[in-house]
Amino acid sequence: MEKLFANSACFYRNPVPCYGFERILADAQDMKVISSINTQTLYADLAHSGAVIYRDFSDSLEDFNDFVSEHSSKVTFDPARKAATSNTAEIDAGVLEMGLHRENGNLPFNPDIQWFYCLQAASKGSQTTLCDGEKVLFDLSSSTRKIFENNRIKFVRRIPFANVQRFLSIELQVPIDQVTDEHLEIVNEMVPGQTYKRIDKNLIYSEFNTDAITKSCFSGKKAFCNSLLSPSVNYEPPKITWEDGTEISLDVWDEIKEVTSRNTYDHFWQQGDIIVVDNTRVVHGRRKLDDPKRRIFGAQSYRKGE
Ligand SMILES: [Fe+2]
Repeated sequence: MEKLFANSACFYRNPVPCYGFERILADAQDMKVISSINTQTLYADLAHSGAVIYRDFSDSLEDFNDFVSEHSSKVTFDPARKAATSNTAEIDAGVLEMGLHRENGNLPFNPDIQWFYCLQAASKGSQTTLCDGEKVLFDLSSSTRKIFENNRIKFVRRIPFANVQRFLSIELQVPIDQVTDEHLEIVNEMVPGQTYKRIDKNLIYSEFNTDAITKSCFSGKKAFCNSLLSPSVNYEPPKITWEDGTEISLDVWDEIKEVTSRNTYDHFWQQGDIIVVDNTRVVHGRRKLDDPKRRIFGAQSYRKGE
């Protein structure tokens, strides 16, 4: 019955001024996103705006969990987080400001979609940040844009084997205790730019070379979408250079920071808000956590085929 409301007058659109992210508001009591939005509408909105914000709907955490499944081909987990429902995990990213990043942007498998659900809003601060990489690419100076078009970036760091095991068990669909060094080799072969090497029984050396400029899997357009600015809360922070190991100049870092910050929207959460982000175009982060009572759940997934 509720499905009949899709595309009717029970919700309306009010895009975020200046930033253009799609914002869809319920216009009737007890409306749910899960029963109002189909995959075609969601993907079309992501292609148009890069991120969709649903407000004033009444989805529970379980509804959100089902919403993620319904519009994904495969759901994954950040290995350092605790599971909360079958598809989602409560986000615990410390209290410091979290820089803009592409989810898993410095790991060999990047989800297409990042999902958020607000179970409890903060009373102040603690906004989630969103920045459209399509706009950033357009705003960069032509010299900096050319540097990134012609040079890949490199992330180098050491990761505990247990974390690599958990990450690969999800991505490769292998039971966690059966992930061995053989799977590190499989990923080295499978993912161009990724190299895992064993250091000792605890630590794995990881090197990942990738483009800072992506092509959105929804819009097909290019975007500056990467994890150059993200601190790594759950792992040793990576060393980031150009692919040949040379340092990225301070001028380039300054320009990225300035252009992204000028294009960053702060989302102040209301309970029940859902945000869906094209992780191949829009980067996200979080302002300093000013209210520890805030509870946000996240999920990562791959889109369904066309
Ligand atoms: Fe994130």
